[in-house]
Amino acid sequence: MPRPDKHDPRRLSDLSLAVHGGNSVDEGTGALRTPLVMANSYALPEDPSQISWSSTDGGLYTRNTGANQVALQQKLAALEDGEDAVALASGVAALHAVFFTHLRSGDHVVVADATYEATFTLFTQLLPRKYGIDATFVDIADLEAVRAAVRPRTRLIVTEAIANPTTKVANIAALADVAHAAGALLVVDSTFTPPPFYRPLRDGADLVVHSLTKYINGHGDAMGGAVIGRRDLVQPIKDEAMVDVGGVISPFNAWQIMRGSVTLPLRLRQHFASAPELAAVLDADPRVAFVAYPGLDSHPQHALATRQFGGRGYGGMLAFAVAGDADAQNRFVANLRLVTSAVSLGHDESLIVHVGTEGPRVAAYPAPFREYGHLRFSVGLEDVSDLRADLLAALDATFG
Ligand SMILES: Cc1ncc(COP(=O)(O)O)c(C=O)c1O
Repeated sequence: MPRPDKHDPRRLSDLSLAVHGGNSVDEGTGALRTPLVMANSYALPEDPSQISWSSTDGGLYTRNTGANQVALQQKLAALEDGEDAVALASGVAALHAVFFTHLRSGDHVVVADATYEATFTLFTQLLPRKYGIDATFVDIADLEAVRAAVRPRTRLIVTEAIANPTTKVANIAALADVAHAAGALLVVDSTFTPPPFYRPLRDGADLVVHSLTKYINGHGDAMGGAVIGRRDLVQPIKDEAMVDVGGVISPFNAWQIMRGSVTLPLRLRQHFASAPELAAVLDADPRVAFVAYPGLDSHPQHALATRQFGGRGYGGMLAFAVAGDADAQNRFVANLRLVTSAVSLGHDESLIVHVGTEGPRVAAYPAPFREYGHLRFSVGLEDVSDLRADLLAALDATFG
């Protein structure tokens, strides 16, 4: 490792990068952190006639990029080892920004069949209906099926590194090869697998998308999204989806997420240490119908996950169901005293949500998900022994 220098991200190891990335001494105040700048407009030069009103360099208008957004983008680019980043209003705004910018009418996309809800809705309904985009949904773990789905107008292959909610793991390096052989881009939603746990760009992905709302902010109190990758791929997203469509992040949220992200690697250590322990406890319990977690030997992509994530863990998300019908799942959730029933994930507190067996997405889920429904469990930062005790007490209360 070269001599560390807080001004040079390439010289920083992961913990140091999370502390110093994107930080600089504020010229106006001498503050060590970028102050929160809530202004909509920045002072113009004496002769503004030569200014590009669509510039995204900052110092003009907050929809074109504000000071806190610049700092966050620099940090995210450094954390993901990408050339550039754009921060937007939410994870969904970031997903839409990629598709809106990099697709034209008549283009075709290959999409993982088990995928986050909004990605599914965008490619089954909104983008085909409004823009004539054609999408083929495939089992992303079946590389032959992915190859076979590619067409001459395929522009993007879209996947999650670990899928929400099935926890299916995608082989990013292999998918990048398939995409590039077809002249397409590989887009990876890495919300479940944030840096430094995994960096898809290093495995050949072209664009990485995050819901910053989740692990990167980590405190459940700000929404944001980001796209990271090569400058020539990110800049058009800034120009089109941010400046002209207006999906910009608010300065306050950028500031808040910048602050939350300082502890990202430390938090991930705790999330990713507790999750396998709880997955094993649930998996060993006869009152639990199934557990899907890449860290379990029984997970179909366990070996791939071990290889791809370099032994750094298997994520903090698991899906499971208790033995029984929807009523049993609801009673189990109602019997929890520490884990909270709510959507979202990657927060400091543990969250669980009961998802039933109905809905268009469910058809692509593995058999036990279709039979029992599932509980999507985001393992939080509470003491793992407290979490274990809460799960076991809720099982006792549910099954008598
Ligand atoms: C994998 C994944 N991508 C994107 C999103 C959307 O993020 P946001 O809620 O910030 O729009 C989510 C939200 O749950 C998600 O789980």
